[in-house]
Amino acid sequence: MRVTCRLLQRAAKALEQYSQYNPLPLSIKKFIEFGSNGSKSGSLTASYQFLRKELPVRLANIMKEISLLPDNLLHMPSVTLVMSWYEQSFRELIQFETSPTPGEDILQKFTDTLVHIRNRHSNVVETMAQGILELKEAYGIDHNTENRIQYFLDRFYMSRISIRMLINQHTLLFGNQLASHPRHIGCIDPHCNVRHVVEDAYENARFLCEQYYLIAPDLNIDCKIVGETTASGIHIVYVPSHLYHMLFELFKNAMRAVVENNPTASEVPALDVMICKGMEDLTIKLSDRGGGIPRSKLDLLFQYMYSTAPQPSRSDSCSAPLAGYGYGLPLSRLYARYFHGDLVLSSMEGYGTDALIYLKVMSDEANEMLPVYNRTASRFYSKDIPVNDWSSPQTWSSMHNTHSRTFGTFAVNRH
Ligand SMILES: Nc1ncnc2c1ncn2[C@@H]1O[C@H](COP(=O)(O)OP(=O)(O)O)[C@@H](O)[C@H]1O
Ligand SMILES: [Mg+2]
Repeated sequence: MRVTCRLLQRAAKALEQYSQYNPLPLSIKKFIEFGSNGSKSGSLTASYQFLRKELPVRLANIMKEISLLPDNLLHMPSVTLVMSWYEQSFRELIQFETSPTPGEDILQKFTDTLVHIRNRHSNVVETMAQGILELKEAYGIDHNTENRIQYFLDRFYMSRISIRMLINQHTLLFGNQLASHPRHIGCIDPHCNVRHVVEDAYENARFLCEQYYLIAPDLNIDCKIVGETTASGIHIVYVPSHLYHMLFELFKNAMRAVVENNPTASEVPALDVMICKGMEDLTIKLSDRGGGIPRSKLDLLFQYMYSTAPQPSRSDSCSAPLAGYGYGLPLSRLYARYFHGDLVLSSMEGYGTDALIYLKVMSDEANEMLPVYNRTASRFYSKDIPVNDWSSPQTWSSMHNTHSRTFGTFAVNRH
């Protein structure tokens, strides 16, 4: 009993300490350099040294924000459960504080711990979403609380994306798990063929769409590279699973809109994808003729839980739903922004929608975008001030162009 108590006290103290540090953003270039450099055992130790501090820092930063959520939300069973996973993982990681020069057994234990943590956290998105629903059902959610939750979820899920990225790199490079392709460096593909990812996401979305509606739109793809031929395809250094995630969500949305907008047609208008690689940005534009979205609804699209589809029933878990949770767009935009890209929708009501994904062409500019817990961030949870840093386009673009180490409540490291 006393030992448990002491451990908890130690963890609470460590949480305070680690939350004082800012997370250190890495660029895709840094990830690649690290993954392809030096002797395997040397990099393993270096990765261990980095992660045994960086992971608790990232966890502590977001755990402090969780603790600022409204009390009634914190007491929802699903939120308590998520918090307990974070606490447990944090405790497991700080055990490695006492092993600055690890032997092989410690290194192996560290890798195993990371795999356990990844498994423990695999249902965090759904469970946290469930916690918000529990709050809604128990007390209702007013406008201010909704804004705060939106602000929190963007930061919370972004933090999770970043933590999983670090864990995946370590376990893929040094654990028993194999990368999905020998060319890949961890989960990064240094030669990611964008067209292939587009086709893959389209095929899987089409499969779902045909299951639901017995019909699906065709796809046309066009590629352009500034000053080069497109014969060999358009490539980028990127995490293919992130790109796939965004495209799959956009395809599902476009297909649903197209089919529902042409309910009696025996043929539906095709989707058009344009992939264009400039000097700075790689842009993927998906255009549909699904009737578009009224401007009055545009602000809602990136809100968690905003959906015009009926919520899928929980018992119907044998097939993946095409739509209905309202998490597709906000999460996809986080994936895009994570490496300083973006995801934007523009629409002509009565005709169709263009969804654009922007990615950084230069891997040294593709820096992680990480939420930082500080006084500015905590003010958003305590005061009735408008919350608009992730969602406001104005703030986003100034943050995007900043060269400083931290900008408000984010760690941005452009060099
Ligand atoms: N291409 C599109 N055309 C028309 N409406 C769209 C399109 N993409 C998204 N939407 C609207 O945005 C809502 C939110 O999308 P999303 O976040 O993917 O959640 P979901 O698909 O679960 O509803 C959709 O329910 C739909 O009303
Ligand atoms: Mg969707």
